[in-house]
Amino acid sequence: MPQELTLPLPDDFHIHLRQGKDLANYANSAELQFGRVLAMPNTEPPINSPESVKKYKEEILAAAPSLEVLLTFKLNKNYEEQELLAMQKNGAVAAKYYPLGVTTNSQDGISKIEDMYPTIALMEKLNLVLCLHGEEPGAFCLDREKDFLKHLEKICKNFPKLRVVLEHVSSAEAVECVKNLPPNVAATVTVHHLILTLNDIVGDSLRPQNFCKPLPKLPKDKEAVRTAVFSGNKKFFLGTDSAPHSLEKKECLCGAAGVYSAPVAIPILIEEFEKENKLDLLSDFLSVFGSDFYQIPRQTKKVVYIKEKWQVPSTIDGAVPLRAGETLEWQRKIDV
Ligand code: DOR
Ligand code: ZN
Repeated sequence: MPQELTLPLPDDFHIHLRQGKDLANYANSAELQFGRVLAMPNTEPPINSPESVKKYKEEILAAAPSLEVLLTFKLNKNYEEQELLAMQKNGAVAAKYYPLGVTTNSQDGISKIEDMYPTIALMEKLNLVLCLHGEEPGAFCLDREKDFLKHLEKICKNFPKLRVVLEHVSSAEAVECVKNLPPNVAATVTVHHLILTLNDIVGDSLRPQNFCKPLPKLPKDKEAVRTAVFSGNKKFFLGTDSAPHSLEKKECLCGAAGVYSAPVAIPILIEEFEKENKLDLLSDFLSVFGSDFYQIPRQTKKVVYIKEKWQVPSTIDGAVPLRAGETLEWQRKIDV
């Protein structure tokens, strides 16, 4: 078993860095783990104009200057072609679609995806990626992703050249659907959906730190996600969906959805790939499949991880991280 592992500096194609006073801490934590991130737009206020894309990129870079930042904007209205071009020029590579009310800050989400078709047609023309939070509002919580797949299939049929990412894939049905769609359709996979099931949220005690959308589901769903990843299928790449919320916002009457995984994501992934005897596939999952899909250069910088146990703190930046209090095997070697 290796004691040291050299990996490409990882990409994270789905991360929440928030806004205001929290942004600097979360951006710093991301910078310690990743070379490049795709920042989600469900901030308050949302990222949905050329100006807000530009400002958000500047704010992230001010806090984390070595991070390469790719931006998204919220698809919560139709945009003119000029606006899309301006957002693209300011660093946006994708639009993020949130159905109404399915997750954090989606009260401005859309009820009918067809209402967005004029913009989606322009995105196809401009080669912008469509990132989908794929959950059907109102369906039973464990069925929401499965019930959304009809919309994904319809979009792909109507916009055959559009690149589409089904974010945070969490069900056996969605894995199968993405596999069967053409190569311009991919999925991001989070660390938590690779390792958790519903049992880890409500199976024994209530564990709010593991509560997120889409919900981690049944063992068969976790296994389907794992099989997709550990088979080296290039349609499945890392997007952590690291989504920090303060302890107070998670542990209250109406707790927020989101797993804070950025500080522990890579050490956990190394453990999981090692467990499956698939360490040879990890670099592709971390930095080849995603950058190829997004049509950006592959990362050339490297980073070394060493096998040295450490205990995950109970809170980081005021949020409870995934695996808080537990011991992890691997950590990034600090350059001296
Ligand atoms: O659990 C989640 N939290 N899922 C999402 O889609 C959004 C995220 C957040 O922003 O907190
Ligand atoms: Zn997210």
